[in-house]
Parts: sequence; structure tokens; C-alpha cells
Amino acid sequence: MYTVVRSLVEASRIIEAVVYIPRFTIEGVARRCLVYGSTERGTYSAYTIDIETGVKKLVASDVHMLIDVSESSSKVVFVRDVSRGFELSRVFTVDIETGEELSISRGVEPQRIAGLAFDGKRVAWSGATREKAGIYLANLANETVERIAETKGREFVTDVNESYVVGFGHIAGNPFSTELLAVNILTGTQSVITPREGSINVSPRLHGSRVLFASNFEDGDTMALYTLDLEERSFKKATFTYRDIEKFEPVEYVSYGWTSDGRIWAVGKKRGTSRLFIDGRDLGPDTGFISSATVHERKAYIVHSTLRTPPKILEVDIESGSYRTIVDNPLPRDVAEKLGEARFIELESFDKLKIPTYVLESSTAPKPGPTVVYPHGGPWSEVANAWTPIVATLAALGYHVVAPNFRGSTGYGEKFRLMDVGDPGGADMEDVATAGRWAIDSGLSRVGEVSIVGYSYGGYTTLMQLTTRPKLWKCGVAGAPVADWEMMYELADRYFKTFQEVLFAGRKELFRERSPITYAENLESPLCVVQPQNDSRTPIQPVLEFIKKLIERGKTFELHVLPDIGHTVSLNNEALAKFLLYVAAFLARCYSK
Ligand code: 4NP
Repeated sequence: MYTVVRSLVEASRIIEAVVYIPRFTIEGVARRCLVYGSTERGTYSAYTIDIETGVKKLVASDVHMLIDVSESSSKVVFVRDVSRGFELSRVFTVDIETGEELSISRGVEPQRIAGLAFDGKRVAWSGATREKAGIYLANLANETVERIAETKGREFVTDVNESYVVGFGHIAGNPFSTELLAVNILTGTQSVITPREGSINVSPRLHGSRVLFASNFEDGDTMALYTLDLEERSFKKATFTYRDIEKFEPVEYVSYGWTSDGRIWAVGKKRGTSRLFIDGRDLGPDTGFISSATVHERKAYIVHSTLRTPPKILEVDIESGSYRTIVDNPLPRDVAEKLGEARFIELESFDKLKIPTYVLESSTAPKPGPTVVYPHGGPWSEVANAWTPIVATLAALGYHVVAPNFRGSTGYGEKFRLMDVGDPGGADMEDVATAGRWAIDSGLSRVGEVSIVGYSYGGYTTLMQLTTRPKLWKCGVAGAPVADWEMMYELADRYFKTFQEVLFAGRKELFRERSPITYAENLESPLCVVQPQNDSRTPIQPVLEFIKKLIERGKTFELHVLPDIGHTVSLNNEALAKFLLYVAAFLARCYSK
């Protein structure tokens, strides 16, 4: 009766095809080489491509999320987890010419590193341990490292030069605002800068004593680009020669920076698509999503994808606007053919709020047919018209996928994004349930054929849905879920304690009410939990407590532990493939009944 892939051999083939397609990040240009991160060798690593010859080289293996480069240096800076997944990391440099690797954070406790910046001579980062958080500055010439500021826990360093280290965070202690932080390297003075108290200000990029940053301080909802002179403390709205960027009306920015001649480039985002603008001029592409970019002399380098097409690295000539593919990753044709139509819809939630939602149909599933609701992680993240391996795999396995951008998601304005602050596991859960009901009402699926799969905050959402709305879902897979906010807070380091304080707007009294463990006894439908052993974001202990409750109540469940790895399975092909195999096997069994 069902058309889903039931053979595990066939499922493995599809999963391998999707997972072994590299995911890329563009980091910048060092000397004449484009530096990018990629999962192509199995774990996220740093590579270079010589811009002139096209020769590709691996420069650093096993990188943990962060890489930075400077045009003036042959060194690339990166972070490496030295704790088998617990995200206690050190900072390294590697010389792209000699291959020599050097740890530059010796003498500093391995820590969670949330922001990294490099200007060719200095490296700055924001890091947190269990007890404290701070900003560090390393000088490559004299091999010194200094802690230059103490911070609360969840700050992000975004740039450095000879005078300043800049970043942003909840520095005023208001969960609804973020401020810019500038540390004057010469005087040691720290400044907290905001153009308006209570506004959101993010990702400052230095150009001498000026910074470019995004803020909602004028509009309150939409982010726009501004410059700030750190010496004069004057704010100015960024101005452009071309008006295309105004016509596009970006809601926020994927990234931005200065060109070498002082113009501004930006990747503007709206409704799950993003486009490149140079000095306000629209350089496309027409559909899909740019997930990272850099501009070097007359060329831009971007990572582009859609829900149906895997990431490519493209070179854009910023004068002519012409595109050239540098690295392509076609999906094997038989897998590509299983992906159906992708569309963007708006659902109406209980309070009439519009919930922007992407749907990727399976071309092999009937309508109505098996459907998975996929709530993303974050929660300040989104499913855009961009390559999302879990979504693509599910569709290729024969499930229509509905990915709601529930309140709290990025990409739809700051008012929408901040709606989950002080209310996680509240109205956002209504939005996800709305997506489940919509799948039935719209004829995509029918009663008893809708399941839910999520990772991290999406795993949390899955547990909350199955325990508080047990009749709505056929079954669910919770990857690395939040099971108990109270226990998780006790186990968290400074970064994640601050994260929870911000997310709950200080309302710790809600921890119990918003925790799946409180409702474990209500579970009715089959549940599969997949949990990394060494996860320091959503640790295994509360998950095991949740499972204990299920055992006490005689509930049926599946639990798979991914040994000796941490939270970020998307940076590790084997871990991601295992997660998806468990998903495929579990769903196939549920949908064969
Ligand atoms: P993720 O999950 O961001 O989706 O990977 C979360 C992990 C930790 C917290 C929230 C979400 N936290 O509040 O600590």
C-alpha cells in the first residue's frame, strides 16, 4: 500500500548519494587562493583552489566549524575540536604554501569557540568554558595570546585589525536585543555600542576605524546595513550606487563586506532566497540560495544551491555579471528524479500568524501519500530554498516533506524571529502542529500518514509533538533532542547557559513546563531517538532520563547512540549517514504497518 523505500540496501544507496555530496562554506581569498570548507573527505576540512590554475588542495583536516583568512597572509586560521565531540577546541594556523600547522591557543584551556577573526597578523576569538567566557587575541609575530575581555557567554567575534576586535552579543543582558562590542587593542577599552537601546545589531565588519553591520534600529523588523565610525561614534545608513538592493527589500543578510576599493557587497535574503548585490547592483542568481560568499578584486565566489540541487561553488564576474562553475556536485540522476516539486507556501497558525513553509514533494509518492514534517533546528535558523540533506533524503526515500519556518525562525523579520524568546515550546509548537494538519487538509497526505523528524531543536520539537499531540502523528524521529531544559541547564557551559537564559528570556520557571520529560507518559506513537554520545549542546544524560521514563511506562521506543561524536553531525558524513539510515529504517517499518 505504501510506496516508501523499504529495502535498506536501496535506502543506503540513496543516503550515500546525498550525504557524500559535499557541503561548502566560502571563507575568503588568501594570496591567490580561494579558501573554502568542505565535507568532501568525510569530515569538514579546509581546502584551497588556486584562482588562476584551478588546482585544488586540502590544507587542514577535521576543522570544527570555523575558518578565517586574510588576503595579506599565506596562513589560514581554523578551529579544531580536541575533545572527541564535546566542542572543546583550540585555534590553529596552517600555512597554505608549506602546509605547516601550528596551535596558537596553547596555554588557553580548550573551549567552545563561537567566533573567529584573522587580519593576517592577529587572530581574535570568543570562547566559553563551563565557568567563564571571554575574548582572546593572539599575535602571530610574537606568539602571544591574551584574554582581552570578559564576557557573559554567548558573544561572537566577527573581525579584527591593528586597532580593534569587534563582535556582537546580548551584552546589555536584554534577550530581545544584541549590541556591538568593540575592544580597542591599544588602550584595552571595551565599548558596548548600540544605535538604539533594545535594537538588534549583528556581525560588524571592519574597514579601518569604520564598521559595517546589520541592524533593525530604524525599522524594528527589517534588518538594514549601516556603517559606524568607531572614533566618531556616528551611524550612517549604507548607501549604494545602484538601487536593485532597495527594490529586492532584503529582510536580513547572509553575509556582507567591503570590496578592496571601499564599496559594499552583500548577500540579501528574503522568503528563503538570497542574492548577491555589489554596491547595490543585483547579480542574482534568479532562484535558490547563496549560503556563503566572498568578493576578491573583480570576482565574487559564492556557494549556491536549491532544495533540489546540491551546492556548487560559482565565480561571478562583478563587472559583467557572468557566472562560471568552479566546483559542481551533480546529484546522481536516478536520485534527482525522485525529488518532486519544491514550493513555498504560507500556512495560517492558530492566531492567524502566517507560517512561511517550504514543501519538497517526492516524485515517487502518491498524493495523498506518506509525509514527514521536518522542523528545523536552531531554533534561530530556517529551511530555505537551499540544499538540506535531511529534506532531500526524505523526499528521495518516498516521503513528501513539509518544512515549516515556525515563529522564531530566521529570514522573516526580527519581530517574527523574536516571537519564541520567552516562549520556546509554546506557540512555535502550534505552528508545527499546523503544518501537520495542513498536510492532511491540503490533500498532500491523509490522517495517519503524517510523521515528524527533527534534529536538535527539531528533535526537541519532535518529542514535544509526540508527547503533547500524540494523535496527530504516525511516528517520529528525534535526533539529539532537548529532553529536559532543567537538567540541560545544569550540564551546560557559559555559552549554552546564556543561550537558555536568552531563549527563555530569563523565565527559568518555564523549564519544566516546556520539557518533553514532563509529558513522557503521554507518548502513544512509535518513537526513534538518535543521540550523539559526546554531545555538549543537547547532552545524552537528559535523553537517557527521558528513555528511563518510557521504560517505566512500558512504552515502545528505539534508541541509537552515535559513539564518540558530538552534536554537529552535518559536519561528519558517517554520522549523518547513520542518522539517516536509522530514520529510513524506522520510517519504513512504521509505514509498512
Ligand atoms: P540546535 O539545538 O541549536 O538546534 O542545535 C539547541 C541546542 C541547545 C539549546 C537550544 C537549541 N540551548 O538552549 O541550550
